[in-house]
Amino acid sequence: MPKEDATTKDRSTVRTLLRLWPYVRPVRARIGTAACVAVVASCLGLVIPIVLKWIVDGPVAGREPGGVWFGALVVLALGIAEAVLFGLRRWLVARPLAGVEAAMRADLYRHLQRLPIAFHDRWASGQLLSRATTDLSLIRMFLAFPMTFLFVNGVTVLVGCGVLLVQDWTLGLILLVPVVPLIVVCSLFETRYSLVARRAQDQVGDLTTVVEESVLGIRIIKGFGRHRSQAEAFGALAERLRGTELGKARLLAGIWAVITIVPELAIGAALVLGTVQVADGALSAGTLVAFLSTALALRWPVESIGFLLAMSQEAATSVERFFEVMDEAEEDPGGHRGTPAESSGGLRFEGVTFRYPDAPDDAPPVLDGVDLVVRPGETMALVGATGSGKTTLTALVPRLHEVTGGRILLDGVDVADMPRERLRELVSVAFEEPTLFSASVGENVLMGAGPAGAGEPELRRALEVAQAGFVRRLPQGDATQVGEQGLSLSGGQRQRLALARAVVGRPRFLVLDDPLSALDVHTEALVEAALRDVLRDTTALVVAHRPSTVMLADRVALLSAGRITAVGTHQELLRDSAEYAWLMSGAGTTGGAR
Ligand SMILES: Nc1ncnc2c1ncn2[C@@H]1O[C@H](COP(=O)(O)OP(=O)(O)OP(=O)(O)O)[C@@H](O)[C@H]1O
Ligand SMILES: [Mg+2]
Repeated sequence: MPKEDATTKDRSTVRTLLRLWPYVRPVRARIGTAACVAVVASCLGLVIPIVLKWIVDGPVAGREPGGVWFGALVVLALGIAEAVLFGLRRWLVARPLAGVEAAMRADLYRHLQRLPIAFHDRWASGQLLSRATTDLSLIRMFLAFPMTFLFVNGVTVLVGCGVLLVQDWTLGLILLVPVVPLIVVCSLFETRYSLVARRAQDQVGDLTTVVEESVLGIRIIKGFGRHRSQAEAFGALAERLRGTELGKARLLAGIWAVITIVPELAIGAALVLGTVQVADGALSAGTLVAFLSTALALRWPVESIGFLLAMSQEAATSVERFFEVMDEAEEDPGGHRGTPAESSGGLRFEGVTFRYPDAPDDAPPVLDGVDLVVRPGETMALVGATGSGKTTLTALVPRLHEVTGGRILLDGVDVADMPRERLRELVSVAFEEPTLFSASVGENVLMGAGPAGAGEPELRRALEVAQAGFVRRLPQGDATQVGEQGLSLSGGQRQRLALARAVVGRPRFLVLDDPLSALDVHTEALVEAALRDVLRDTTALVVAHRPSTVMLADRVALLSAGRITAVGTHQELLRDSAEYAWLMSGAGTTGGAR
């Protein structure tokens, strides 16, 4: 997994968090204003001790009740002003920060759509899901709270220390001495906490993956009675996450203890010394009251630093995880080299080699010099043993993967030179595993129509070609919603919708990966008859396992050991290729006349 090494890498929390700037920039004025408001509010709290000092040394010492009442009213007013200002701050930041989170999520989603298939092969979906949810909320929380309050509390503590030193510098120094060890402890804490925080967030991703897989695979789990083992796997991961979270809590508890106890001790010492000084007459009672209430007012800003740092650490980890995905290169849109079209049309593979990026180095390439010409308007069946690379070859045409060598030409133009949008308009695909989205049947089919869109007649025609008459008997016809992955439809029904999607846009090139495998032979024959009509002016490459599917094709190509070893009609190949005859013989009828 690509994430593991990041935990050991050195990183600067601040530098990581600074990467958020492009997203924060548009709302910087609001956030800046909110921070200033918070600083004012927080420092208002520090004025209260000064008023107290005035009350104690003035009206209280002189026994004037009127003055005491006035002082009390001032304190009340200050308290209210502080509360109102903090409320204002919250109001100022809430909306822009929700906007920042939404913008980041939209960016992540857009980026995920454009990342190459190779990326998605490599990354567990739970890791991506947890980034789009947990990590982004952690980042929003950081922007709303720790980011402002590390600044606000820092300023408050500095101002407060100034006030303390002005009032009585000896007592002030006693309070300030413990600051040095506190800083050391905090920085130690930060390093250790960042490691655990990262581990915890990765483990949340793993857990999300297991939950997602067991929900999607619920039929298998029930069918094989695997509840227990699945629950055990989940339990083990949850236990691991719990351990990590407990480790986090232990670290937090430690830092809290230090951050709380040390200032408490210092305040105690200052109290004793101050009382002695007041008794000696070296200090006014009012000054001591003011001094101690300032020190107490500073307790919260100091204590909060522990968890503010912890939250910032978590946010930095989230930022890192977010940008791990964002930094992956998108598919390039293609179409830089405008090579002139060559005269030869159709679909051509020239010396195409391919190996999966994550395949071991010593493994032979899946495709090793594939040469094949599908003439314009021709339908070519692609036959080969299971695992021979048929799916891989079909995925290369719409550039779901990039060839590692050789080239693929559509009507004489190298697909690598075509803008991807254009390429995917030209080529329609249907894969072995028919994927339907949570949308109506009609929307699922029309998805294949490209940017120009298609209307009701095209939809009717495509459904007819795919023999998807069952759609009319669905409760709301083609407006019926099909569930996640089309679970409410049968395998053959889903395949027929996927096929309808492939043909609805009347593509020039059609690439079908075993599109009829789940149909009974009679339905398959009907689909074939209709398809032959559609395929008349479409150049098609159709992966086939059954002789009945092969019958659809004008010619057949045999893929074996990474190359095309034979091309010809079904009859010719049956006669000339032992491997082809063998592949076809196990599958029921051995051919038949065409
Ligand atoms: N994403 C991937 N990463 C690495 N290797 C892969 C990947 N997908 C497939 N392979 C490997 O490539 C080889 C060819 O797989 P492919 O799916 O193209 O076979 P196929 O001919 O379509 O088989 P089938 O008839 O069973 O559908 C297999 O050995 C497979 O293990
Ligand atoms: Mg396959």
